[in-house]
Amino acid sequence: TYLPIAALVFGYLLGSIPFGLLLTRAAGLGDVRSIGSGNIGATNVLRTGHKGLAAATLILDALKGTAAVLIAEHFGPGLGLWAGFGAFAGHLFPVWLGFKGGKGVATYLGVLIGLAWPTALVFAAVWLIVAIVLRYSSLAALTAAIAVPVALWFQASPQVAALFAVMSVIVFIKHRANISRLLSGTEGRIGAKG
Ligand code: G3P
Repeated sequence: TYLPIAALVFGYLLGSIPFGLLLTRAAGLGDVRSIGSGNIGATNVLRTGHKGLAAATLILDALKGTAAVLIAEHFGPGLGLWAGFGAFAGHLFPVWLGFKGGKGVATYLGVLIGLAWPTALVFAAVWLIVAIVLRYSSLAALTAAIAVPVALWFQASPQVAALFAVMSVIVFIKHRANISRLLSGTEGRIGAKG
């Protein structure tokens, strides 16, 4: 049937809303893509020095993933997976920004909350520990992206575990520049201005 495709497209459209870009623009801060890492996510919004906007970006970029999953599940079991992947893809490749979107970490977390919330606690714990100890948002996200598919293997269905394994690989690919900066010791720490 057409329902999985409809869920994928619906998720994509929700996911493609670039909240970091919209919020910083609305606040008169210019284009967040011209500072720091150039990314549209909460970590880079924080480099404007506006903590509230960064928090709002994190929450909204996550919430669009959760909403896509929960709304789609309403129309049939299993559709949340399609909508969740759509939302993640929408954040990474938004048609509105010439397919140049974000790195997907907040939306990944939001989709995880919708599909397997207990594992979102694993994500949060791993992210927070790495972020507090080492103060690298990217490294915290990458570590969480390894922990989540492993945890899902024990905590969720094989389909959900496989979906997040794929999304984790994409998260790693999207963090190529961050990984080289981490290796060369030039990655910006959380809270450092861009
Ligand atoms: O969630 C994105 C984060 O892992 C890295 O962001 O702006 O430092 O590239 P950024």
